Formats: sequence, structure tokens, C-alpha cells
Amino acid sequence: MIPFEQYQQSADFLKKRLGEIPQTAVVLGSGLGSLTDELEAAVKIPYDDIPGFPRSTVESHAGLLFWGRIGRQPVILLSGRFHVYEGYSPQTVSFYVRVLHLLGVKKIILTNAAGGVNRSYEVGDFMLIADHIKFFAESPMRGRNISRFGERFFDLTRLYSPEMRQTAKICAQKLSIPLQEGVYFYMPGPEFETPAEIRAIRALGGDAVGMSTVFEAVTAAQCGMEVLGISCITNMAAGVIQDSTVSDAEVTATALKVSASFGALMKAVIAAV
Ligand code: HPA
Repeated sequence: MIPFEQYQQSADFLKKRLGEIPQTAVVLGSGLGSLTDELEAAVKIPYDDIPGFPRSTVESHAGLLFWGRIGRQPVILLSGRFHVYEGYSPQTVSFYVRVLHLLGVKKIILTNAAGGVNRSYEVGDFMLIADHIKFFAESPMRGRNISRFGERFFDLTRLYSPEMRQTAKICAQKLSIPLQEGVYFYMPGPEFETPAEIRAIRALGGDAVGMSTVFEAVTAAQCGMEVLGISCITNMAAGVIQDSTVSDAEVTATALKVSASFGALMKAVIAAV
């Protein structure tokens, strides 16, 4: 159990280092970190410098917290997140969400790379997360509830904000960026799925599959933050297309290829929400 004081310690440190606290923070998924280049007057803080913060280990995840402005809007960008497959608990994975809440951030945009399960999706598509499935994975709230962060039992029927999704759709339309909308199915990884697992995920209602995001989303929901989730479909999941295989190289290469349109969409969404 992470004690309340540890979250507070990180928040107190950041309060001293950051400028005006923004409404919105954005978490950048695998290979989607280039949005940080767009920040004006940026403050850049390695996670390692933040007291209480966990450390990131995956190469494509830089482990840096940025504060800056996009246009006139202040924003916090988190480049690098934590995953259960790295050995972290769901509570540690979503640690930063509660820190953002203590800072006063109201809205969180969670982005990720995901495998396409819905056959109508194409590599390079973006998908608004309408809902998620995280069967069997432990809740970040397992253990004693810290009431400062919300109720023991809480509702998830509007987990991914309908209002923020509507805003994102309008932004995408204006930019002529196609935007799918579907269900994100969490798998713990780090191995990619078997073709049989992907068939099962499709039968259960998943449109995309990935190894992140759900713990942070649930943690944000408990403390009353609005959540927007956007997946980049970096590959078609195992066995969706006969004989195709999945690799981290493909995931990273696709994410890089779409980084310009991803950046444009994110800038518009940040300004609009
Ligand atoms: N499966 C799980 N996670 C992923 C995938 C995938 O196919 N692509 C990117 N993240």
C-alpha cells in the first residue's frame, strides 16, 4: 500500500517546480512522445528527481514530466509510464494520477499504442476509447481505501468522458483525421497475444488490445477526474490477419509514422477540452 504521504510528497515537490497548474494532463504512450517538442516555455523534470515517484524501465518511455504551454494553454505532459509487466503493482502504475489530482489537474488524456482487433481497423488509425475490459487484473484500489482519493466502491459507467470524446471527434473532423471508437481490452503482457486469445477478445467485445491505460483510467475515475483515452492502432493484433506476426519494432515504427497527425490531433484536443 502506498501511503497518502508519498503522493503528497510528490505533489508538494511539483507544486514548487511547475508554473500555473493546468486543467489537463496528457500521458504519452509508446512512441508517441514527440508532442513534447511542441511545448513552449517547457519545464522538464526527470521522474527520478521527483520524491516518491516510481522509475520507468522501458526504452521507448523516457520518464520525463513536462510542463509548458500549447498556444496559451498550460499543460502537463508525461512522457513515459509504468506497466505491470515491468513488475510494478497496478497501484504503482497509476501513482502519478493521484499526484496530478493533488496538484489540481481535472482532466487526463491517456494515450497508448494498441493492436487492432476489429477487422475494419487499419494500422495507423486512432481509436477513441469508449470503454475498457480488464478482466481478472488486480484493481489499483485493492487494499485499504484512502478516502481522500474517493469512495471504496465507485461507478464506471461514464469512465471515458462522453463530453471529452465528443470534443475529440469534432477536433478530428476539423483536421480530417479519421477516428475510430471502440473498446480497449487490457492484457498484462509483455508477450503479445496468441491468435486464440485475440479471437476470444473479439468475441468478448474488444476492438483493440494493449498493455496499459486501464489502471490509470480507473484511478482517475475514483478521484473524480475526467478521462479521455486514445489508442494508436500500431499493428493488427496476432492472427487477425492470417500469418502476420507482431513485433515491438512494428509498434514503434507505426507510432513514429503517425506522430505528425497524432501531434496535430492532440494539440487541437488540448486546446478544446
Ligand atoms: N497487443 C498488445 N499490446 C500492444 C499491441 C498488441 O498487438 N500493439 C501495441 N501494444
